[in-house]
Amino acid sequence: MNEPKILIDTDELYSRIKQLANEINDYYGTEDTLNIICVLKGAAMFCTELSKNLKMPLKFEYITLSSYGNSTCSSGKVKSLNLSLPTFENENVLIVEDIIDTGLTLNFLFDFIHHNCKPKSTKLAVLFDKEIQRKYNLIPDFKAFEVDNKFIVGFGLDYQGFYRNLDYIGYFEN
Ligand code: IMP
Ligand code: MG
Repeated sequence: MNEPKILIDTDELYSRIKQLANEINDYYGTEDTLNIICVLKGAAMFCTELSKNLKMPLKFEYITLSSYGNSTCSSGKVKSLNLSLPTFENENVLIVEDIIDTGLTLNFLFDFIHHNCKPKSTKLAVLFDKEIQRKYNLIPDFKAFEVDNKFIVGFGLDYQGFYRNLDYIGYFEN
C-alpha cells in the first residue's frame, strides 16, 4: 500500500485539537451538559482526542453516516444505518465530524435533528473544513484546520476503508 506524504504531523495535530477544545470550553463554560454527536466512522479519533480536553459534563451519541462510498468524491447521497437520537430537550448539542466537504452529510444530520429533536442549540465542530467544495450553506462553528482540494487520510479519515489509524494527516501526490 502507498505511504501518504505528511500534511500535518502528530505534534501539530494534537496541539491544535487541544487548542480547539479550549475554544469550545470557553464558549460553553463548565456548568451545562454538552451532548456530543460523533459521526462515525471518520470522527471517532478526533472525537476521542477532543473530548479528553473538554471540561463540561459530557454525554455521547455515536451515529454512522456515509456519503463517499469507496471513491474520493461525494456520491451525492447520504447513507445512514439505524439513525436514532434522543430529544436533547433544552440541552446543547455539538456535532463532531472529521471533515465538511460539500456539506451534504451534515446538512442531512442538521435536518434530521431539526425534525426529530428539540435541543437548546446545535453547533458543529470539524477537524477539517474543505470550504472550496461546499454546496450547502453550512459553516462550522469550531474547526481545527482548513484544507484545499486535497484528498487527505489519517486520524479517522480513510481511503477505501484504510489509513484511519494513522496518527498524522497524510495525502497522496497525483
Ligand atoms: P460531504 O457530505 O460532501 O460534506 O462529505 C463529508 C464526508 O466525506 C466526510 O464525513 C468524509 O467521510 C468524506 N470526505 C470528504 N473529504 C475527504 C477527504 O479528503 N478524505 C477522506 N474522506 C473525506
Ligand atoms: Mg465521515
